[in-house]
Amino acid sequence: MKQTNEKHAKQKGPLPYATKRNKISSRIREQASAYLSSPKISRKKTPPKDVIKNVEKARTLVLAWLDKNGLRDAVHLGLPEIDDRKNVWRVGLKYPRSSNGNGLVGEVILDAASGDLCQHTEIAIIKSRLLKLAHETDENGVVAGNYEKTKRQSPPPFLPNKIVLGDAAQVLSELPLNSVQLVFTSPPYFNARPEYTEYLDYQEYLDSLRRVFLRCHEVMSEGRFLVVNTSPILVRRISRQTASRRLALPFDLHHVLSNIGFDFVDDIIWVKPEGAGWATGRGRRFAADRHPLQYKAVPVTEYVMVYRKQTEKLIDWNIRTHHDAEAVQRSKIEGKYDVTNIWRITPAHHKDHPAIFPEELVEKVIRYYSFVGDLVLDPFAGSGTVGRVALKMSRRFFLIENEAKYFHNMLKELATVAKTMRQEVLCEPEEALEPNEAGQRELF
Ligand SMILES: C[S@@+](CC[C@H](N)C(=O)[O-])C[C@H]1O[C@@H](n2cnc3c(N)ncnc32)[C@H](O)[C@@H]1O
Repeated sequence: MKQTNEKHAKQKGPLPYATKRNKISSRIREQASAYLSSPKISRKKTPPKDVIKNVEKARTLVLAWLDKNGLRDAVHLGLPEIDDRKNVWRVGLKYPRSSNGNGLVGEVILDAASGDLCQHTEIAIIKSRLLKLAHETDENGVVAGNYEKTKRQSPPPFLPNKIVLGDAAQVLSELPLNSVQLVFTSPPYFNARPEYTEYLDYQEYLDSLRRVFLRCHEVMSEGRFLVVNTSPILVRRISRQTASRRLALPFDLHHVLSNIGFDFVDDIIWVKPEGAGWATGRGRRFAADRHPLQYKAVPVTEYVMVYRKQTEKLIDWNIRTHHDAEAVQRSKIEGKYDVTNIWRITPAHHKDHPAIFPEELVEKVIRYYSFVGDLVLDPFAGSGTVGRVALKMSRRFFLIENEAKYFHNMLKELATVAKTMRQEVLCEPEEALEPNEAGQRELF
């Protein structure tokens, strides 16, 4: 290229592209001077005067539009912002009861120059967003998930520590609503053999549990937990010609609880030391013959099923709005805890009761699912393990047992703990207790 130009310069003088450029620039110069000297055209273009000069004017116009559409009291305005590039004002529309940005329901855009409305969220969409937020907002006026400024709940009705001899469904029907903050229980055993069972059949057994859990649901505080320990029931064979069966109680009970209005939260597997299940006789046949299909696992686990009383509110709501902030602080679970759903716990035995909770299991459940000062209910109390542990963990308890011999044993054992803890315990019927020196029938 360079070579070609030099050659061209020697032969014909200036390069053609330079000539062209000079011609263009002289034309531009002429045009510019004509433009500048023209009396009709001013040099600076004056922007047209904006109708909306400030935030206040933008607000006034949006409020008038809201008024026209019947939304003036339904929404709050965000701070109007100017978009210089497009010369428009943007004004956010917010749900009035939200205290942070969660409540944006729409936007209005105004032309700064003319003051005209150039764009807005469909009225129908604004209205349905408002409705949805109103539904999600709790009675304290806070949108779900934002509880910083929420009012605390009022304290629930206070019930003292108490044990009652009677039928659980019957006794629970007399408790005040919202008086129970945790239920932990294991239902009575279902003996499938007609000559031993007190139920017509398995369905009747499930129905009787349903009646009790329905009452539990009624008396529990909103969003609180129900924890049930169960395992499949072994129905032994009645002759060599019949097979043994297992009834899947944890899964059947799951349907019962879901239908009542409990949300499933967790399935914790309580693992007992190996050897614990051999007494059931399961797996012995296979151990001897080793045929496929005959295999039967020896059960060494039980389910600890965790449910929450259905609510729209998050668990966070139960924590932040708890009536006693100090109790919440004192209940924090410090140090080691069970990270997985496998809990290895050795079973406990009692001379007077065939199926009791190990204290370690009750301690974990109370620690993870209740606050200090809460009332823990066991409608099938047996030996009263839940009550004894609740006392030691600064919770209150309410226990129901329908067998007189278990009830009286429970009474004696609780008396010992209550005495050392200096805690008052009531009992019903009162006559089950000897009157003290002051003539009162109190456990302690
Ligand atoms: C599996 S045991 C509970 C043992 C208890 N978890 C413990 O640690 O001792 C179930 C208990 O429920 C009692 N029970 C059965 N039906 C009942 C009813 N309708 N109302 C109250 N208690 C009942 C039984 O007598 C039995 O003691």
